[in-house]
Amino acid sequence: MIQTNQRHIDYRELCAEIGQSPEQLARLRETGDYAGTTKSVKTVLDGRNRAAAISSPAGAPSDPHLHADFHEWWIIMAGEVAYEIGEYEQIVASFGDIVLAPCGYRHDIKPHKGDQCIRMVVGLEDSNHDLKGLPHPRTLPIPEDWEPPNMIHTRLEYMTERHGLETNWGEVVLLDQRNRVNMIHSLPGQSNRPHWHPDMDEWWFVAKGQIEWKVGDEGPFVAGRGDIVFVEAGYSHEITTVGDESSIRYAVTAPDVVHHFLDDPDAPRPPRV
Ligand SMILES: [Fe+2]
Ligand SMILES: [Fe+2]
Repeated sequence: MIQTNQRHIDYRELCAEIGQSPEQLARLRETGDYAGTTKSVKTVLDGRNRAAAISSPAGAPSDPHLHADFHEWWIIMAGEVAYEIGEYEQIVASFGDIVLAPCGYRHDIKPHKGDQCIRMVVGLEDSNHDLKGLPHPRTLPIPEDWEPPNMIHTRLEYMTERHGLETNWGEVVLLDQRNRVNMIHSLPGQSNRPHWHPDMDEWWFVAKGQIEWKVGDEGPFVAGRGDIVFVEAGYSHEITTVGDESSIRYAVTAPDVVHHFLDDPDAPRPPRV
């Protein structure tokens, strides 16, 4: 069973835990009854966000609503998921894409293609869904000249075409009062500057490649495509791209995150090992 804030959530385990069995899918095709076909698991509670991976088969009914008090966003983890956000035309998002519904923007989420369309929602722990039933107001095209951060739809492919895969790069793709999401591309062998954060849990989604984490004194582990890694405040973390392929990870932190670097002799030592 996957635990919330597990150090390392394996993608295949997550897909298996919230996916439909072949029997359930056969019954769905026979009856067209989607009752009970959506399953979820809470992945992260970091003091700012509640994140949960939600799996539904394509065609599952949607429940359009809006939130008056926070920006909600999603990382697509499997299949294709269609979104109507605010007054914008429908977008279709796939693996590694980030979708944002700014505060007050109605969102209608339709599992679009695949037996298992997985989105990881990141929102408030106590968010409510009381504001429902509004129709799509009007249809505007997505502006073509938008750039990060905070695009309605940040496609992974757009980011890799924008920066290429030949150099190390990072770009902030989401930034609000609660979160900064940095998309980081690293070449094989590349490491971060090991550090720790005094008052903030950090977590990552791996979109590409193989990445080794060394957390405090724990033994190293390698996370791959689709995996989620969580590190509590106070633990040092060293992150290295391993294998032959470059890696892409999304680092989710507070916008005003404090870093204490291990190679800085004047910096305090991490309190947790
Ligand atoms: Fe929502
Ligand atoms: Fe960090």
